Amino acid sequence: MPKRPEDLRSHRWLGTPTLRSFGHRSRLLQIGYDREDFAGKPVIAIVNTWSDMNPCHVHLRARADEVKRGVWQAGGFPLEVPAMSLSENMMKPTTMLYRNFLAMETEELIRSQPVDGAVLLGGCDKTTPGLLMGAISAGVPAIFVPAGTMLRGNWRGEVLGSGTDAWKYWDEKRAGAISEDDWHEIEGGIARSFGTCMTMGTAATMMSMAEALGFTLPGASSIPAPDSAHARMATASGRRIVEMVWEDLTPNKLVTRGSLDNAIVTHAGLGGSTNALIHLVAIARRAGIPLSIDRFDEISRRVPVIADVRPSGRLLMEDFFYAGGLRAFLNRLASQLDLTCITVSGQTLGEGIAGAAVHHPQTIRTVEDPVYPPGGTVVLRGNLAPDGAVMKPSAAEPRLLQHRGPALAFESYDEMAAAVEREDLDVTRDHVLVLKNAGPLGGPGMPEWGMLPIPLKLVRQGVRDMVRISDARMSGTSYGACILHVAPEAYVGGPLAFVRTGDIIEIDVPNRRLHLDVPDDEVARRRAAWTVPPRRATRGYGVLFAEHVTQANDGCDFDVLGPGPELAEPEIH
Ligand code: FES
Repeated sequence: MPKRPEDLRSHRWLGTPTLRSFGHRSRLLQIGYDREDFAGKPVIAIVNTWSDMNPCHVHLRARADEVKRGVWQAGGFPLEVPAMSLSENMMKPTTMLYRNFLAMETEELIRSQPVDGAVLLGGCDKTTPGLLMGAISAGVPAIFVPAGTMLRGNWRGEVLGSGTDAWKYWDEKRAGAISEDDWHEIEGGIARSFGTCMTMGTAATMMSMAEALGFTLPGASSIPAPDSAHARMATASGRRIVEMVWEDLTPNKLVTRGSLDNAIVTHAGLGGSTNALIHLVAIARRAGIPLSIDRFDEISRRVPVIADVRPSGRLLMEDFFYAGGLRAFLNRLASQLDLTCITVSGQTLGEGIAGAAVHHPQTIRTVEDPVYPPGGTVVLRGNLAPDGAVMKPSAAEPRLLQHRGPALAFESYDEMAAAVEREDLDVTRDHVLVLKNAGPLGGPGMPEWGMLPIPLKLVRQGVRDMVRISDARMSGTSYGACILHVAPEAYVGGPLAFVRTGDIIEIDVPNRRLHLDVPDDEVARRRAAWTVPPRRATRGYGVLFAEHVTQANDGCDFDVLGPGPELAEPEIH
């Protein structure tokens, strides 16, 4: 049964004959609105992560206006609410430190104000999970407007991809293969428009997974940011959120075991970012659904990578859109999906992708002729990672997937960064680089340091990949035989803390094994001599983060932000 105006949450703020309602209404009139603008209408918060500091989101100011147009068209009352913008590019030490901050802010912005429904504007890496986590916890109907990816990069007619080609040409520059002038030209060509990174990095991965979870209109996540279809999608989302409020289509109806699996199938088929494992576990947890990272491994074993997008493939998100986008991609994987899951459109996922055709078969391939066979994302376990570690074999040199070699261990990023530039570093292509203290607490915030640079000496010898192990994350645009998210992290006394240079490490991807070949009694001796490092943060949010963040396999959410207990609506006195 649809809601009535007096059932709206905002009615308590705006519709009652009380002194407080008088105050709220008079302040809306102060802005210049008439009573006709809001009386009896759903109040729609447009949670906007626009910022001049975030080049991926500079168009979201315009998109907010386009969303408003749709809200007005459908008989709602739109109000824009700014939220923290997590600029992957600018924020240090890492946006991951602030994902939970955005999630908390989103939740509290909605809960504390007269909001009946929310439109979430974001896309740059951590903004997608941060917004979704907050909206799920807030519990009001919410629709996600993905920021969309930027246009392809260009350098002298060559297509450039965000991140991926930056790392590639940086190594070419280190090896002396390109000049300083070349490098500056690349700088001007690699990011040609507003929008997020256009490789299959964390942004494109998470926007696509948000669509598979049911949080966007069909096809929304693949539209390039500068395409006029993107503006129309924003307006349509504004119209739709008003209907969602009347229908009471809340996030807990979207996030189910089935839709979480659909998101994981999407991740596997895209060859998505390893960051997504952390984020989806956190999203599921907000919805009260336990999700293990092992589910990614299970589904990846049966779903091949069929999107030919870098870094696992050759092309970019703009090509993916022209090939038919996520609807066509999901159609190709329909047999793997739970098509009955409901989406923000009010239709099922199956209805949303029905009839979607692939226009470029080389870009969106088939299960029978994939870009990479099943197993594009794996979860490794062993005495070095009892709670799991993550790897993306599709972006690594195959020779490294079964490997045994001596560790070259570093206690900190700075120590590692200085060492890899040394000509006299005692390292071979068979070494395993190990970085400690880069996890949720050690980083802090688990920075994207996991693609450790290949030592300069080896770069000059032509080496472009080697095994690297850390408790850090890696940008989704990165590549290489990088084993990430080792849990528990070194900083809390996980086994990684006890690795020493020269120890033999075995990696066996087919058998999902990560092993430190050191006798148990020797590891125990090292553990006994280990002392807990001093806390890194000394004030403010950093202390809050350190006291409450969970490990990577638990989603790095705060322990106090799990599901329930249900919070009472705020008192209005
Ligand atoms: Fe924003 Fe890559 S820097 S998505």
